[in-house]
Amino acid sequence: MNPTSQTTGQFPPILQPDAQGLKTAAELLHAAGLVAFPTETVYGLGADAQNDHAVAGIFAAKNRPTFNPLIIHTASAETATRIAVLSPAAQTLADAFWPGPLTMVLPLREHSKISKLATAGLDTVAIRVPANACAQDLLAVFQGPIAAPSANPSGRVSPTTPAHVASGLGNAVGIILDGGPARVGLESTIVDLSTDAPTLLRPGGLSLEEVEDKIGVLATPGSAGIVAPVAPGQLRSHYAPAAPLRINATGPMAGESFLAFGPGPAADANLSETGDLTEAAANLFDLLHRLDALGRPIAVAPVPETGLGLAINDRLARAAAPRG
Ligand code: TXA
Ligand code: MG
Repeated sequence: MNPTSQTTGQFPPILQPDAQGLKTAAELLHAAGLVAFPTETVYGLGADAQNDHAVAGIFAAKNRPTFNPLIIHTASAETATRIAVLSPAAQTLADAFWPGPLTMVLPLREHSKISKLATAGLDTVAIRVPANACAQDLLAVFQGPIAAPSANPSGRVSPTTPAHVASGLGNAVGIILDGGPARVGLESTIVDLSTDAPTLLRPGGLSLEEVEDKIGVLATPGSAGIVAPVAPGQLRSHYAPAAPLRINATGPMAGESFLAFGPGPAADANLSETGDLTEAAANLFDLLHRLDALGRPIAVAPVPETGLGLAINDRLARAAAPRG
């Protein structure tokens, strides 16, 4: 699609978040495109959280080496409860700090339509209700949850202005909504409320003191009995099928299901018939789930170790690793 309100010919187009700009951005999201938008913490690289292909585009644009789970942005705590289960402590924090720079990791509702790629196949989901007016307007016009990591190439500093986004991601992003400099400029505080012991996963734009003032002292990863990840992005447990998985397989052995990549003989499923890594990433978790349901061991064809292939192979290697 062609964004219409650009006047300066710059790429990617930087649009004002007026009615036309918001409409253009929402249409691009519905078309599985990527929209960089301001939040009060940092600029986010947004995609339709319910569309695997759109979410795969985020990992491709950021050149992320692994499929870290993403934060799902929703318009309100009420819309968050359609995706996740809020404990009393989570509800207390939502009442106090949403909208705002707080992300809560919560149990994912069973029939939620959130992309498994966005949650990395976990049974929890990170949710945030942003306070920034432009982010709120975009959520209102789009009418759905938006998955968004910070809008920077992997390993680089988070962006707090449209110019940072443009210089870091260039045309990998479809549109940038201009909300001026991010107010907080530091990523959100992440608290895990999916277990009985609320745990700080990432310090951020909301102080620990403010959180503890509401729900008491937080555990930190490493506290007795806490098995939470040491740092965001360092999650041990990602999706692994119940069935044994064999990687770099040239074909199925007797009794195995075969997951192919690229053109070739018939298989039980194909990550991408055309050998497209973004498509393969979008299909990965869904196809593993489907093959797992057949109840047979799964053999997976080799996937090239370039671009998103690195992340796909990382995830496949974890799924194939000996189970603890
Ligand atoms: O301020 C922010 O949080 C910004 C704006 C755009 O909202 N977003 C952001 O996203 O910083 P990102 O992807 O850079 O960091 C989110 C972190 C990931 O590193 C991931 O490990 C963690 O959140 N995370 C997401 N889902 C999780 C889950 N279910 N359990 C534990 N950690 C999770
Ligand atoms: Mg980041």
